[in-house]
Amino acid sequence: MAGNGRPAKPIRIDGQEIFEVDCLDGFKMLEDESIDHVSTSPPYNLGGFHADRKYRSYAGDFSDDMPEADYRAFIKQVVNECHRVLKPNGSFFLNMKTRIIDGVSIPPFWILEDNPFHLKQEIIWHFPSTANVDKIRFFPLFEYVFWFVKDIVRFKEKWNNEWAIVGNVWYISHITDRNETKAGEDEGGIQHPAPFPTQLSQAMVLSTTAEGDTVLDPFLGSGTTLKVCRHYKRRGIGFEKFFSHYEQVVRRRIASDDFPPTILEIKAGKNQKRREEHMSLDNFIR
Ligand SMILES: C[S@@+](CC[C@H](N)C(=O)[O-])C[C@H]1O[C@@H](n2cnc3c(N)ncnc32)[C@H](O)[C@@H]1O
Repeated sequence: MAGNGRPAKPIRIDGQEIFEVDCLDGFKMLEDESIDHVSTSPPYNLGGFHADRKYRSYAGDFSDDMPEADYRAFIKQVVNECHRVLKPNGSFFLNMKTRIIDGVSIPPFWILEDNPFHLKQEIIWHFPSTANVDKIRFFPLFEYVFWFVKDIVRFKEKWNNEWAIVGNVWYISHITDRNETKAGEDEGGIQHPAPFPTQLSQAMVLSTTAEGDTVLDPFLGSGTTLKVCRHYKRRGIGFEKFFSHYEQVVRRRIASDDFPPTILEIKAGKNQKRREEHMSLDNFIR
């Protein structure tokens, strides 16, 4: 059953497939061990906390405000479903951040308890700027990316080991993607409040898949994962409960061939001019 009352039939955009569903309903459509790779960033459950801060709010009916125990149970259910649908040699990248609730830091380590995956590595996504600029703490300048594998040996069948040199601290700015997801005044579209960067998705997808592989993002948002899939010839599947609110921005992004250099190209010193352009964003603090 579709989340918004729409039938759960795929919306096809440039060969990519999107279902406007609650992801738990979406998973029911997928066979066991049918997906080569999952990467995603779930909602933060900070809606209630930030209710007075409009710029953070999502579109439509999504309040992002569940009782914390229900939220954790829901995310764990999603992780279990990712495990079920992933092939034995597949990788699952889960981007989560430390949330600050009533002034207290809540790191996302609870996700490692009762988790069916092997934790292959923790990656730090370090960024140069943040929207959280209250001067009552050091500005938070990183999020976690947990790299999970189903089989600690067979993951190597898909691992593209030239990516090892990027290390496990990925320095990636949000800025290009935040600009990309802003709707123009004449467009009437909706800006997505929390896109992850194209470079983050490039690194997750390109390090552990090959052309033609099937990639799933159960919380598609503004469509970053499918933007990367279309450009690099992966078969992307996305679930997004509020897709109709973000349809314009998702269509625009999937069609886009405007890509930053990968962090591997930057690390390897290729594409020097684009590297300089990219790095010039680093001085930006919001
Ligand atoms: C953090 S955002 C993902 C952003 C995405 N990585 C991007 O690059 O734009 C989480 C998304 O999950 C969606 N969402 C929330 N609950 C959902 C559910 N139960 N099933 C599917 N999508 C859901 C929200 O509407 C939101 O767009």
